[in-house]
Amino acid sequence: MAAKVIAVVNQKGGAGKTTLAMQLAGTLAQRGAKVLVVDADAQGTATRWAASASDKAPFPAAVIGLSAAGSKVHREVAKFLDAYTHIVVDCPPAVDSPVPQSALLIADLALVPVIPSPPDLWSAVGIRQLVDRLRAINTRLQARLVLNDLEPRTRLAKDARDILPAFGMPLATTALHHRTAYRQCAVVGGTVHQLGGRAAAAIAEVEALTDEVVTWLAGDSTTDGTARSENSPHGLAARGTPGRTGTTGQG
Ligand SMILES: Nc1ncnc2c1ncn2[C@@H]1O[C@H](COP(=O)(O)OP(=O)(O)OP(=O)(O)O)[C@@H](O)[C@H]1O
Ligand SMILES: [Mg+2]
Repeated sequence: MAAKVIAVVNQKGGAGKTTLAMQLAGTLAQRGAKVLVVDADAQGTATRWAASASDKAPFPAAVIGLSAAGSKVHREVAKFLDAYTHIVVDCPPAVDSPVPQSALLIADLALVPVIPSPPDLWSAVGIRQLVDRLRAINTRLQARLVLNDLEPRTRLAKDARDILPAFGMPLATTALHHRTAYRQCAVVGGTVHQLGGRAAAAIAEVEALTDEVVTWLAGDSTTDGTARSENSPHGLAARGTPGRTGTTGQG
């Protein structure tokens, strides 16, 4: 069976692409999936992350670097489809890079991590437009915004709530909150699970987000990409945002 491909994209630097890609890939692998991380960013952050792991506790997914493939990333990823159940592509932040577009050509799901502040949301508009364009070519492509580094009680988060409805991309119910555990993971070369009990809250949200991803990839018709309900756990629901068409078309 061909792997499901998840592209983690946002042209804005530091939004949490690599964090999200590695937590998701590692968690899927720990659940028994056969997972490949494609490090499509020349910075090589995902590759270094996995290389930081000890021999006793290697990063649970395989990681390969494909940043030099540029606009041909999709062609290279296609060669791994039969060998894995999931392929997670960590994309670079550069606005002018051909990599995100190439990754979206072969992706089943685009995940767009965004720090919930108005400037970060504004700069993510370009990636939403790219996803919209690619949907015309790749009709399987679903997309979700994932709030990252969330500090719900801040003014920035409240301001972000006001502009989320205008963003026009369905939101994951689960957000990743601002937690030191996420920074520590890159040092130990693992997922939050490796940090044990002190990372319980981070583990819970990574597991919940992975559950959501699995559901979207299964094409569950109940997750039609509509905005979250108002009683969402982090209180940043995109109120009144209508569901996008095409978000259930994943095969
Ligand atoms: N939820 C979080 N809580 C705390 N720190 C976080 C969180 N998410 C990411 N970080 C930290 O923020 C920094 C940027 O995150 P990350 O490298 O995942 O972003 P990125 O989008 O991949 O960046 P780039 O665009 O440079 O590739 C890292 O130091 C990471 O550990
Ligand atoms: Mg990165």
